Formats: sequence, structure tokens, C-alpha cells
Amino acid sequence: MKTQITELFGIEHPIIQGGMHYVGFAELAAAVSNAGGLGIITALTQPSPEALAGEIRRCQDMTDKPFGVNLTFLPARNPPDYPGYVRAIIDGGVKIVETAGNNPQKWLPLLKEAGIKVIHKCTSVRHALKAESIGCDAVSVDGFECGGHPGEDDVPNFILLPRAADELKIPFVASGGMADGRSLVAALAMGAAGINMGTRFVATHEAPVHQKVKQAIVAATELDTRLVMRPLRNTERVLNNAGVERLLEKERRLGTDIAFSDIADEVGGIYPRVMKDGDLDAGAWSCGMVAGLIHDIPTIGELVERIMHQAEEIVAKRLHGMLSQA
Ligand SMILES: Cc1cc2nc3c(=O)[nH]c(=O)nc-3n(C[C@H](O)[C@H](O)[C@H](O)COP(=O)(O)O)c2cc1C
Repeated sequence: MKTQITELFGIEHPIIQGGMHYVGFAELAAAVSNAGGLGIITALTQPSPEALAGEIRRCQDMTDKPFGVNLTFLPARNPPDYPGYVRAIIDGGVKIVETAGNNPQKWLPLLKEAGIKVIHKCTSVRHALKAESIGCDAVSVDGFECGGHPGEDDVPNFILLPRAADELKIPFVASGGMADGRSLVAALAMGAAGINMGTRFVATHEAPVHQKVKQAIVAATELDTRLVMRPLRNTERVLNNAGVERLLEKERRLGTDIAFSDIADEVGGIYPRVMKDGDLDAGAWSCGMVAGLIHDIPTIGELVERIMHQAEEIVAKRLHGMLSQA
């Protein structure tokens, strides 16, 4: 399948693996890229720019296909060493960057000068248009159903994607709720040039996370996610668990007086405990409503092939069949 996204990134299939904290290591990115999609390493999971440089080299040892690096701009009082991470990306010869979390304008001149293609992940049409206006090459449009940070507008993809298609000139991928060939065809029908998946890629054989995390996603339904940190305007969609219930109880009790320090136990330093140690109830960790569509733990090669096969069947048989009977 050829789309503007496969052409832009030089990949075989229009499937991207979004950056994921404590999941987006070289093993995952390389497996997705080797399967013909675009794998992405998550920069901030690496403790330092030097460690990111090492992770990029590890990925290059595992694949000769294109892969990217995610740079998430956090609302942090003491920001990470962003200049150092950007330097590691450029010096490492990475040619694709996924930005997220905030406006990447400050970093675009450096990235563009190094010949890097930038795809910005955003949750609203206005932010997508901003990304287009500052020179991003593509956007990832993340609907309300997504795992991670859906923003504060709560617009689901059935509205957000056609709205993006009506307004944008640069190509975009649909993100949030994408799991299979049906998702891909629907995304293409709404004007997207591919899909970006998070949660679906966590429940795969190669994802370098504890088996219990994968099993929890398989066991979860579309009713099992919760929105946390809404009162702090830093909403995150997470899988419900004992830590999340504790957090939500604090949000109810403290109301608008709540501060980040009140919930630090449930949201600070949680990812390694969950992803590495399998301590699922440690606190809040991102998961999309798409968990309801995830019933197995395939290899990434199987998953990508299945998505493409199903998409082709839907287009060539189901949809084409409907037209020829008309
Ligand atoms: C466990 C997990 C961690 C994530 N961490 C990040 C992150 O650090 N930076 C980021 O830009 N997006 C992050 N995301 C969001 C994904 O890249 C992607 O946009 C989202 O998962 C898409 O929705 P889906 O889960 O319905 O596929 C994370 C998602 C998950 C499930």
C-alpha cells in the first residue's frame, strides 16, 4: 500500500508505532521497522542524551530500515536536557522525529537543517494547523480514545479525522483506537494516510515489557480505562487499577485545590515499576480504549501482516463487492 506517509518516511506499510515511555526501546522500534512499519524509540525513557545515543546505535544494529525517535515535551519545572537529546538524535543519524506534548517550533530549525522529517502528535485541529504552519512534515492526530494524553477537548476520531482532512495540507495519520485492518481502512476513508498505534504494540511478543502488562491489556475491555489528572489540565488515559482508584479518590476529595504533589505517589516513577517489574497496581500507566479490541499477543510481524491483509480484504472484497452489486 502506497500513501503519502509511506512515501514520506520510506516505509512499506502506513503503520507507525508511537513513542511510549518505558516501552519504546530499541527492541520494539526495530521490530516494527523490520516488519515494514515505522518504529520509534522514546527519547525521555533514556536517562541521558548519552544513553539515547547508545539506544539509537542498538536500534541501528537491529534494523537497516528507517526508524524514528520520539521527543515528548513535558510540562516540567526542571525540564530534561532537550538540547542534549536533540544533539544525540542528529549525531546518531536519525532521519525521523515524532514530537509530542507541546509546540516543537523551537527545535524545528535544528532538526530540519539535519534533514530530519518531523511528525508532530497533537489532539486538536488547531494544534495540527499550527504544526503545519511552522513546517512540520506530517501530523499524528490523536483522538479522545487514545492511550496517553488525549488533551482537554475530548473530540473522538470519527469527528477529529475528517475535520483534520478538511483543514490540513500536510499528510496525517490517525492515532488512538487503531488496532487492525478495519481501523486502517476507516482511517484512510476519513482522509488519513496511515495509522499510529500505541496500546496495540504493547501487547506484542517483542514489546520489552513485563508479560503481566501484555496480559492486562488482553484482559481489559473498552470500559476499563480512566481519565486521570483532568483537574491539573494534564489529562491521561490509563488502565484502571488500585493505584488509579486511589488517585481518582484524591481528585474527588481535593477538587480544584489539588496539586501535582498530592498525587506524586500515583503518577511519579510508576513506569519502570509497571513495565519492568510487572507491578500493575503501582499507579497510573497509559492505555487506550482500544484494549477492548486486543485479544492476543502476536509477534509484530504477524500483527502488521494481519492488519495489511485485513485492510486489503476489506477494500478489495467487502467494499468493492458492495459497489459491484449496486
Ligand atoms: C504505555 C504508553 C506510554 C506512552 N508514552 C508516550 C510518551 O512518552 N510520549 C508520547 O508522545 N506518547 C506516548 N504514548 C501515546 C502513544 O504514542 C500513542 O499516541 C497512543 O497510544 C495512541 O493511542 P492508542 O493507545 O489507542 O493506540 C503512550 C502510550 C502508551 C499506551
